[in-house]
Amino acid sequence: MPQAGILSGGGDSPGINAAIRAVVRYGARKGVSVLGFLEGWKGPLEDLARPISLEDVQGIHRVGGTIIGTSRTNPLKVEGGVERIVATLKRRGIDFLIALGGDDTLGVAHRLAGDGVRIVGVPQTIDNDIATTDYSIGFFSALEVVTEALDRLHTTAFSHRRVLILEVMGRDSGWLSLLGGVAGGADVTLLPEERFSVADVERRIRERQESGRPFCTVIIAEGCQPTDLEGQVLAESSVDAFGHARLGGIGQCLANELTARLDVPVRVTNLAYLQRGGSPTSFDRILATRFGVAAVDFALAGKFDVMTALQGMKIEAVPLAEALSHQRTVDPWLADLADILE
Ligand code: F6P
Repeated sequence: MPQAGILSGGGDSPGINAAIRAVVRYGARKGVSVLGFLEGWKGPLEDLARPISLEDVQGIHRVGGTIIGTSRTNPLKVEGGVERIVATLKRRGIDFLIALGGDDTLGVAHRLAGDGVRIVGVPQTIDNDIATTDYSIGFFSALEVVTEALDRLHTTAFSHRRVLILEVMGRDSGWLSLLGGVAGGADVTLLPEERFSVADVERRIRERQESGRPFCTVIIAEGCQPTDLEGQVLAESSVDAFGHARLGGIGQCLANELTARLDVPVRVTNLAYLQRGGSPTSFDRILATRFGVAAVDFALAGKFDVMTALQGMKIEAVPLAEALSHQRTVDPWLADLADILE
């Protein structure tokens, strides 16, 4: 009986469990057993693993997070890390590995594939910044939270005639901010892909005030940079094992600047981890289920060093090298949509 390994790495997002469930259920039909490696790449690195049974995955499609845990462990930064992983997989009799994660996790997967590990990647990140796939697992669930937050903020902004700023995640990509802004009707939408000037935001708020709309909702991505500030605003300057500093705080910076310029109250809500948690939406459950089934199919067909990618209505096997060749930023025509509706 072939044995698959599975792991989830990087920031969690709703839908990972639905993918694990699909791999285990479809795997069982195909005669594949599944071993879960715990806490991302730390699992195969330190040989932390447990079999995942059909009972283990019962009903987990509706549960956020990941039953096998996650971490930002980077085995490429650990002395002999690759060799240790290869040895674990051999000792455990793993025929192929399915790795769910964002660019960091998938980057390690691609590197291991170069060392002969038979691996299939599955994109999961609320940032939606993986090239070649229209959407990654988790993005739409996070987007629902962002949209609801804007809906809620709108009522208070309107009632109190305030400027309310919503800071969202996304690292260097503006998908959550842009589509959240469109779905939630933000009055000002700021993206990391385009530097913004505080004076311009002030002007837009004043124009609204002059046209009889004294309130304003602003959505800003954590990676946004004002034109007069060097670098992004960091919540923590130390970097993780992949070299990323933790972003956060640009919303408050903008609020401080606007408070000094305007005569209406300006307040900030940072959505932070609320947008990563909770139950996956039906879109993410379906996408994750399709990705899980496709990952097993690709592996059984001998397609390795590839990633499951949603392209239109189809799931394709794209080379990991292609998926990792660049970061997927927002489509400019979609960015125009936010401006048109402002
Ligand atoms: O990549 C997903 C993400 O949620 C980013 O949007 C965010 O910048 C980062 O992870 C936060 O990382 P951590 O969970 O390590 O604080």
